[in-house]
Amino acid sequence: MGKAVIIACDFKDKQETLNFLNKFENEKLYLKIGMELFYSEGPEIVREIKKRGHKIFLDLKLHDIPNTVEKAMRTLANLDVDMTNVHASGTIKMMEAGLRGLTKEDGTRPLLIAVTQLTSTSQKAMEDDLLIKEKIEDVVMHYAENSKKAGLDGVVCSPLEVQAVKNRCGKDFLTITPGIRFSTDSKDDQSRITTPAKAKELGSDYIVVGRSITKAENPIEAYRKCVEDFC
Ligand code: C5P
Repeated sequence: MGKAVIIACDFKDKQETLNFLNKFENEKLYLKIGMELFYSEGPEIVREIKKRGHKIFLDLKLHDIPNTVEKAMRTLANLDVDMTNVHASGTIKMMEAGLRGLTKEDGTRPLLIAVTQLTSTSQKAMEDDLLIKEKIEDVVMHYAENSKKAGLDGVVCSPLEVQAVKNRCGKDFLTITPGIRFSTDSKDDQSRITTPAKAKELGSDYIVVGRSITKAENPIEAYRKCVEDFC
């Protein structure tokens, strides 16, 4: 499986997104569309970007009863996205339902990956709010294993967790890793960050890069450097 740099399109609307994409002229990119853009523009933004020949990771993190997730995934499969995701905490049954919904009649489907524990969840919040008393690292690995059992393709994780995930779930189980910065960049609100070159060394399959590209003085140059260092 080839490595790829996925650009996080954390833009507020279609115009801002297209202004950014126009800088790249005819270059074909892999783009992450999240809740903000999808909820403001609807499925049309996905169709518009696909029409331009880009790949899409639709980051909507589904979590509901299995029947609802299955039906929602069927709708997303019709949008022809390349990758999408669910919360592993929705249970193995819910992930299996998501996978069924995504699979077309000819057996093809987008990649389906799981979010384990959000990086915004601390050990304390997990214990106090969710009443999960295990160590957060163990919960992340348990959820990764559940995702694998459900037949999913991989998980979102930190580059620093890639080896542990691969040891537990196999080397072909995909790791999609955000938290990427060049050594010269500001960290913004990310705490544990890794450079594209380090993410490659640690074995990530895909890196998700937002502000280091979208807010760079020269986004094209920043993107090229990510590709050069990671792919
Ligand atoms: O701008 P930056 O490179 O920090 O953006 C990273 C992207 O990856 C954002 O869209 C963010 O929501 C997402 N993400 C993350 N950490 C996670 C999961 C997703 O930063 N654990």
